[in-house]
Parts: sequence; structure tokens; C-alpha cells
Amino acid sequence: MKPVGIIGLGEYLPKRVLTNRDLEKMVDTTDEWITTRTGIKERRLVSENEATSDLAINSAKEALKDAKLEPKDLDLIIVATVTPDMQFPSVSCLVQKALGAKKAACFDISAACAGFIYGIVTAQQFILSGLYKNILVIGAEVLSSITDWQDRSTCVLFGDGAGAVVVSKVKRGGILSTYLGSNGDMADLLLVPGGGSRNPASHQTIDKRMHYIKMRGNELFKYAVICMTEAVEIALKRAKLTTRDIDCLIPHQANLRIIQAVAKRLNLDEKKVYLNIHKYGNISSASTATALCEAVKEKVIKRGDIVVLDAFGAGLVWGACVIEW
Ligand code: ACO
Repeated sequence: MKPVGIIGLGEYLPKRVLTNRDLEKMVDTTDEWITTRTGIKERRLVSENEATSDLAINSAKEALKDAKLEPKDLDLIIVATVTPDMQFPSVSCLVQKALGAKKAACFDISAACAGFIYGIVTAQQFILSGLYKNILVIGAEVLSSITDWQDRSTCVLFGDGAGAVVVSKVKRGGILSTYLGSNGDMADLLLVPGGGSRNPASHQTIDKRMHYIKMRGNELFKYAVICMTEAVEIALKRAKLTTRDIDCLIPHQANLRIIQAVAKRLNLDEKKVYLNIHKYGNISSASTATALCEAVKEKVIKRGDIVVLDAFGAGLVWGACVIEW
């Protein structure tokens, strides 16, 4: 049976740039604090009329072009997001409409920052089962819409953007192994408490700022390091590889110190770790998607390389994916 792999990539980052210096004027913070504690220098934000589907559509067009496919060739569209345009319809249906991908089935995945990896694993299974041939997987977020711009402990971290891939059968290489993990016991560490069925939107939820991200960053930091390291180790073992075989690690870009700690635990040379956190901050499901796209565009990743995607986020959820490029 032919392996499953990635045959096209695309990304879209909104044009508006918010620097650490800009944030200094908004909350009690400094460029120095943000840079040394997180590695972030600036992030992109949507303009007034842009929503998650707009970013997703632009990244999808680029990925389809790169894959040399037409929208009519798509059997399934999966969008990983925690910031859909609306509760429903799904962002994937909005992408389908814009592309004119009439044959495609559509659904969204809610797996926070690990959503893009959950999407790739899901796509791989649909292709291996023989049900579908070409699947578009997008990680797209407008985190600025759920960011509390008065809370300095979170607002310096997040940004907006989208990355997309087309998953299909490939002649050689492709996805060698995957691993997905979850731990709902830690759901309280990172959440948006208002606006869902538990606390429907009301004047009270707005007054209490419950429609914004609430995060216990310190505790999350520890779990992020443990889970992201473990995910890579398990996925590598499943592919009968070791850390020494990794040519490029594409980690979730939540915090440079988390990424450095993971690399250290894996005994992996930091030169093999791809970073775009300084430009975009944490864009949740779009972080690994845009980083993969940029690493390929910049030829950091070359044919035959062993690439490992690794992510962690709210839920908690985490996962890794080993790909021979
Ligand atoms: N500017 C200046 N000072 C600040 C800022 C800021 N922006 N934010 C917090 N501080 C202060 C705090 O008030 C605290 O001051 P105190 O000691 O006087 O109380 C001090 O800095 C240290 O705060 P900590 O929270 O301990 O800082 P830490 O080094 O842990 O960094 C951070 C915080 C960046 C949030 C880090 O904990 C982190 O990255 N956590 C993990 C985030 C993550 O992985 N999230 C999951 C993925 S995201 C997703 O799924 C959407």
C-alpha cells in the first residue's frame, strides 16, 4: 500500500503587525520581559473585516496550487480551530464554499494548539481506509478575538494566522508514525469559560470577561515540556527511529523556553529546531502549520529529511507526527 504524505503547503498571515513596543503602550509590560520570557518580538493581527475563514481560505488556495490540484479534487476539508467565525456553520464549510470544492465533506476539529496534528492524523486514517484520496487540512486562528487585551499575562502571547496542507498518497516516504495524547483532568489550566452552553453569553459573562482566554501559564509550562518531549519519543519509537534521525523538529510555538527545554530533554541540537515564534507568537493550530510551510519554503526541509511535528495545547491535548519528506 502506498504511504500517505503531504503533497502541498500554504500559509496566510494577516498584514497588521503588533510589536512588543506597541504592547508596552497597551499594558504594563516591556519588550525585554516578553523577549526573554517567551522569545516573541511581534505578532500578526487581522484587520477589522477579516475572520478565521478568510485566513483559512487564503492558505488553502496556496496549498492547492502547490499540490497542483483543483478544488474539485478535494474529498474532505478539515479545519482545526478554536476561533471559528461563528458557533456554526463550521469554518471548513465556509472554506468549501469559497473554493467551490463541491465534492468535499467538511468538518472542524477542536484540539487547540495540537489541532493541526490531530487533523493530519485524521486525514491519514481516511486515506488509509480507502474512503478518500485528497484531503485539505488547515490550522487557522484569530486568537486576537478571544484575547483579553487588558491582561498582560496572556495578551503578549497570541496572534492570528493560518497554514494548510494537502494530504494524499505519495510514492515514497510520507507519514511514518503518529501519536496523540489527551488529559481532560487538566482542562482548568487553559480555557475560555464564557460563551458556550455552560455559561452562555450574557451581560454578566461579558462584564466578568469570561469570553477571553484564562490561562495558568506556570503549570501549563511544565506539562508542555513533559508532553511534547514524550510525544516525540513515542512517535519516533513507533517509526523505529531515534532523536539522532531527526533532521527538523517543528514544535508548537508557544514559548521559546518550552521549545528549548524540549530540545534539551530530547538531546537534540537546537539548530534542528525550526522557529517562527519571534514573528508570529502563539497561533495555536496555525503554529505548526505555518512553521512547516515556512521550513519547506526556506528549504530548511529537503527531500528525504526526517521531520517531526510536535504540539501541545488546551484540553490538555498533545501529539507528534514523524514524516519522511
Ligand atoms: N510583562 C511583565 N511582567 C509580566 C507579564 C508581562 N507581559 N506577564 C506576567 N508578568 C509578571 C507576573 O505578574 C509575575 O510577577 P510577580 O512575580 O510579581 O507575580 C512575573 O512576571 C512572572 O510571571 P510568571 O507567570 O511566573 O512568568 P513565566 O516565566 O511563567 O512566563 C508565560 C509566563 C510566558 C505565560 C509562561 O508561563 C508560558 O509560556 N506558559 C505556557 C503557555 C502554554 O504553553 N500554553 C499552552 C499552549 S496555548 C493554547 O493551547 C492556545
